[in-house]
Amino acid sequence: MEAFLAKFLPVCEPLLAGNELAYVTEAVSTGWISSAGKYVKAFEEAFAQYCGVKHGIAVSNGTVALHLALVALGVGKGDEVIIPDFTMMASALAVCYTGAMPVFVDADTETWNISPAAVAAKITPRTKVVMPVHIFGNPCDMAALESICADKNIILLEDAAEAHGASFGGKRAGGLSRIAGFSFFANKNVTTGEGGMVVTDDDDLAQACRYYKNLCFPLDAPRTYLHADIGFNYRMSNIHAAIGLAQTERADDLKQQRQAHGLLYRERLAEIQGVCLQQDQPGGENVFWMNGLAVTPEYGRSRDELVAYLKEQAIDTRLFFNGMHRQPALEKYGCDCRGAYPVSDMLADNGFYLPSGSGLSNDDIHRVCDVVAAFRR
Ligand SMILES: Cc1ncc(COP(=O)(O)O)c(C=O)c1O
Repeated sequence: MEAFLAKFLPVCEPLLAGNELAYVTEAVSTGWISSAGKYVKAFEEAFAQYCGVKHGIAVSNGTVALHLALVALGVGKGDEVIIPDFTMMASALAVCYTGAMPVFVDADTETWNISPAAVAAKITPRTKVVMPVHIFGNPCDMAALESICADKNIILLEDAAEAHGASFGGKRAGGLSRIAGFSFFANKNVTTGEGGMVVTDDDDLAQACRYYKNLCFPLDAPRTYLHADIGFNYRMSNIHAAIGLAQTERADDLKQQRQAHGLLYRERLAEIQGVCLQQDQPGGENVFWMNGLAVTPEYGRSRDELVAYLKEQAIDTRLFFNGMHRQPALEKYGCDCRGAYPVSDMLADNGFYLPSGSGLSNDDIHRVCDVVAAFRR
C-alpha cells in the first residue's frame, strides 16, 4: 500500500522552467514554425558560444548530427571509425550511414569511457576518425586520445550527445576535437525535445554541414533546383530551436543541478557494499547526465532483482546499453564483433541508471538510495 502511494519517480523528465513557453508561443503566433525562423540562428550562436566554439549547426537529432559531422569530414566506404563498445547504438549507426566501418574499443574500468590505452591496438591504415563518447556526461581523457591520434593524422570527433557543459583541461565538450555532435533529446541536460547540433571551430567543416544538412541547396547562389551532391534534410524547426535557446540561457543552472544530484547520489551509493560507480575522469568536469551503477556479487542480489524491486517502489530505471559487439545489426553490417570486451559486458549485464532528471529533489535521491541500500542481502 505504501509503495502504491509513493510518488512515481521517472528516470528523467525535462525541466522547462525558463523562457521556453514564451519563445515557442512567439514562434507559433508569428507563423515561423519551419527551419527559417530567427530562433534557429539564435540557438546555434548561443549553444556554440556555450561550448566555446565558433560554429553551431542545428539539426533534427543527435544521430544525424554525428552523421553530418562524418559526412563533412569526408568519411565513407573503405574508412574505419573507432568508437567505444560501451555506447548508445546511435554512435555506431551514424558511422554505418556513411558506408564506413565502426571498430569497437572496450571501456575503461574506472571512467566507463573508451579506454585510450586500448585504442592504439585497433588503429589500422584505414582508421580515419576516432569518435570518443563522454559517457553519461563524464568527459573522456582527450589528452591521451589526442596524443594517440595526432601523429597518425587521425581526426577526433566527439560524440558529446550526453555531455552538455562537461569539460576537460578547462575546455568544454564540443571544443575538445575538430568537430562534435550533441543530442537534445528530452532526457538530455539541455533539450529541445528532439534535436541535435554539430559544433566546430573549422569554417570549412561548418560550411559543409550547412550545405549537406539542407539537401545540398547551394549556400551562396540563387536556387536553380539543380543539386550537385546527395544531401539530407536534417533541418531543425524554429519551434525546437525556441526551446533550445531558452534551455541554453539556463544551461549552467541545469548543469549545476545535475552535478549536485550526481554528487549526492555518489555519496549515498558509495556507502552501499556491492555497488560499482563510474569514476570521474581526472582533469575533467563531469556533468552527471545519468547516475548509473553496476551491481556486483557483494550486493547479494542481481541487477534484475534490484530493478524489479525499485519498480515496485515506484522508482523507474533503465538498463545500460548493450555493447556494440553484441548488436546483431552491426554484425550483419559486417563489423568485426569477435574478441573480448569484459568491461562493456560487465556494465551491460549488471548496470542500470537511476532517476536523474534536473527536477529531482534531494529527498527523491535519498528515497532511491534508501531503497537500494535496504534491498541488499
Ligand atoms: C552517446 C549518444 N550518441 C548519440 C545519441 C543520439 O542522439 P538522438 O537520440 O538525439 O538521435 C545518443 C542519444 O541519447 C547518445 O546517448
